[in-house]
Amino acid sequence: MDFHTLAARGGRDVPSASRPLTPPIYQTNVYVFEDMDTVESVWESKKPGFVYGRYGTGNHAMLEDLVAALEGAEAAVACASGMGATTALLFGLFAPGDHLVSARDLYGSTAAFLGDEGRRLGVETDFVDATDVAAIVKALRPTTRAVFVEAMSNPLLRLVDVPALAPELARRGIELIVDASMASPAVFRPLEHGATMVMHSLTKFISGHGDVTGGLVAGRCPWRRASSGCPPCRASTIRACRRTHSTRSRRA
Ligand SMILES: Cc1ncc(COP(=O)(O)O)c(C=O)c1O
Repeated sequence: MDFHTLAARGGRDVPSASRPLTPPIYQTNVYVFEDMDTVESVWESKKPGFVYGRYGTGNHAMLEDLVAALEGAEAAVACASGMGATTALLFGLFAPGDHLVSARDLYGSTAAFLGDEGRRLGVETDFVDATDVAAIVKALRPTTRAVFVEAMSNPLLRLVDVPALAPELARRGIELIVDASMASPAVFRPLEHGATMVMHSLTKFISGHGDVTGGLVAGRCPWRRASSGCPPCRASTIRACRRTHSTRSRRA
């Protein structure tokens, strides 16, 4: 290798008979493949692997697999924040003309976002008392695409009767999205009670140490890796917080 090539490409791989206990942070955007067939197989999810940083890295996948497993979900997508997860839901699920029924008791920024940005995008939202299943059912319309509630509302900690609400919506083909940020999956797993999607501000219970921002959407369908916006180092930090999760949920 000439000097200039060595300067640009040297110091890459070091042989090691051991592997790190804590997974490394994948500080990369692009990946190297053996051949074009492998590129295609990975791109089409026929083989495991990663293609491009925006679609996720090993750090994102480890965090997504962890929270999906804790929630009993088939798959999850990590986002840069809880509001990022709500944004992904709004853009991913709704089309102009769709109707949303939302809990009135919500984290303030979520309520403002669903109401204001939703309206701007042509999604009309009715805010109702979500502790009253009959009130939610009464607000449904033929165009209702989803119902959005917080499992335990922030800040009033009001509860929604998810097991009673879920069959009403399933019968009508309406998604039930539960923001479970304030409740640990150790105590409540919305998907087990009929919700179709669960989202988290990972900033809250899942990370729990007040030192990192993140979000996630999980559900029953296998999702292709999407734009995540969560840096790999943050995904790694949030995943590391799993070690204190049980202790924190027992003491909460
Ligand atoms: C219930 C709930 N959902 C969503 C969010 C937004 O999350 P983030 O601050 O990670 O964007 C919060 C933040 O406090 C929250 O309490």
